[in-house]
Amino acid sequence: MLDLPQLTGKQRQFIQLLQQQPTVDSLRSHCARHGFDFNFINGFLLSGALDGYVEWQEQSTEAWVLTPKGEEVGGQVPGVALAEQLLQGIRDRVTLQGQLGDRFSQNYGALRREQAVDLIDEGNTALVTVLKPGVLKDYVQRQQVFAAIAQGGSPDDQAAEPLSWLQQQGYITRRVEADYRLTVLPALQTLELSDVVTTLTSELILSGQWQQVQLKPYDIHDAVPDVPYGRPTILTQCIQRIRDIFLNMGFDEMSGYLVESAFWNFDVLFTPQDHPAREVQDTFYLAQPQTLPLPNDANLISQVKQIHEANYGGQWTEAEASRAILRAHTTSSTARRLYQMQGQTGKYFSIDRVFRNETVDRTHLAEFHQIEGVVVGELLSVRTLMGYLTYFYERLGFKQLKFKPAYNPYTEPSLEVLAYHAPSDRYLEVGNSGLFRQEMLQPLGYGDKSTVAWGLGLERIAMLLYDVEKLSDLIGPDIRLDHKTTAS
Ligand code: PHE
Repeated sequence: MLDLPQLTGKQRQFIQLLQQQPTVDSLRSHCARHGFDFNFINGFLLSGALDGYVEWQEQSTEAWVLTPKGEEVGGQVPGVALAEQLLQGIRDRVTLQGQLGDRFSQNYGALRREQAVDLIDEGNTALVTVLKPGVLKDYVQRQQVFAAIAQGGSPDDQAAEPLSWLQQQGYITRRVEADYRLTVLPALQTLELSDVVTTLTSELILSGQWQQVQLKPYDIHDAVPDVPYGRPTILTQCIQRIRDIFLNMGFDEMSGYLVESAFWNFDVLFTPQDHPAREVQDTFYLAQPQTLPLPNDANLISQVKQIHEANYGGQWTEAEASRAILRAHTTSSTARRLYQMQGQTGKYFSIDRVFRNETVDRTHLAEFHQIEGVVVGELLSVRTLMGYLTYFYERLGFKQLKFKPAYNPYTEPSLEVLAYHAPSDRYLEVGNSGLFRQEMLQPLGYGDKSTVAWGLGLERIAMLLYDVEKLSDLIGPDIRLDHKTTAS
C-alpha cells in the first residue's frame, strides 16, 4: 500500500503524471523529459511502494559512451583535422602547419601510423603526399560517429566500421543502462492524491487553517544532508566526562576565583610567605588590583598568623597575604569551600583553570586545568585516598596506577599519582594528592575531621585519552577538531 501522506513532493508529481498516461515506454526518457532524477524514481519503483499500482518490465539498453581517453581528445579524433585538409587538396606542409598549429604533428602521426600519408622533402618546401585516400575518408566518417556519441546520440547501423575502430582505439565503450517500461494499473488511476502541506507556516497557524490541511508527518528514516555542526572541543568533552564521573560518585561541584588573594592560595595552606613557589618566577601577581581584602574573620587571621610564625619562623604579614594573584592551584577553592562549610562533612570537586609562570613548550603552558577534589569525613586514610583515585582513573580507562611519596606544605602524607599508559609502556605523572594536615584543618573548623584531597592535571588526561601530542592541539587557536578517542 502506498503511504500517501509520506510521499515526497517529487513522488507525488511522478504519480500525478502517471495518472495521465497509461504506459511509459522508457522510464529513463520519461524522467529526462519531465525533470525527474532517474535514480531517485528508480529507487522509488524498486522499493516496492508502487507494487499493485504500476507494472514494470526491465528493458535495459546498451549505449555507446566516451571513455576518459575519448573525453580528452577535445571532440575530435586525432588525424581527422589533417585528413579534412588533405581531402581539400592542400599538400604544402607550411600551409598545413599554419592551419593546424600545434595539432599538426599529432594528426600527421595518426595518419602516418596507418601508412596513409608520407612527407616528401623537395628542397625548400615539403609536401604531404596521400598514399591511401580511402583512410582519409574513413577518418571523416569516424569523426561523425564520434561526434554523435559525444552528443549523447546513438549512431546508425552503417556505423559498424567506425564504431569498432573507435572502440579499438579506446575512445568509446559500451555501457548498459537500466530502463523500464511501465504500465499504469487502474488502482493508480483512481488514486486520490490530496495536497499535503510540508511546511507549517505562521500564516497557517494564525489563520487556523492548520486544522483543515493535511500535514505531512515527519519521516525519521528520511536521508538528511550531513550538516557540519558545532561540537565541543576535546578539552570540553573531557571536562564533561570527568564532571559526570564525580557527580555519579556523589560529589558536589565547587567553584572559586581566577583572581585570588595569596591568603587563600598560599597562607591558609601553610605555604610560608618566603616559599619559592610564591616568587614572581612562579606566580603571576596582579598590578590591578594589587590587593584583595582578607576574610572578615579576625579569629581565622590570627590563627593562621600564629601558626605561620610559630612553625615557619619569620614575620607573617597581612600585606603579603592580601596580594592579588592569578590562582596557582584550585586548592584555593577547596580551602574556601571548607571554610564556608564550617566543619560539615562532604565531597567536592572542581575542574578549573590555574596559572603558573612557566616556560611554555609543547607540553607546558602558563595556564592549565586542575581536577580538584576533597572528601571530608572521619577516620579517612591513605587507603581511602587511593581508593577514590583508583576508581576515578579506572572510569577513564586507566586501570593501573602507582602512588609515590611526595611533598606538599599542606598535606601529609602526600602522594604523587602515576598512571600506566599502554601505548608508550610507561607510567606517567597524572596528579598530586594527600591528606590535609591538622594545622590546615584546624583554623578552618575541621579539627576533628580528616580529609583526603587531590589536584590532577586535566590536559595530561586529555592528551592521553585523545592521543594528542601538543598542547596547542588542545588549547588556543590551532586546536584539533577531529574528536577521535583512543581510550577504551
Ligand atoms: N594543589 C596541588 C598541586 O597543585 C595538588 C593537591 C591538591 C595536592 C590537594 C594535595 C591535595 O599540585
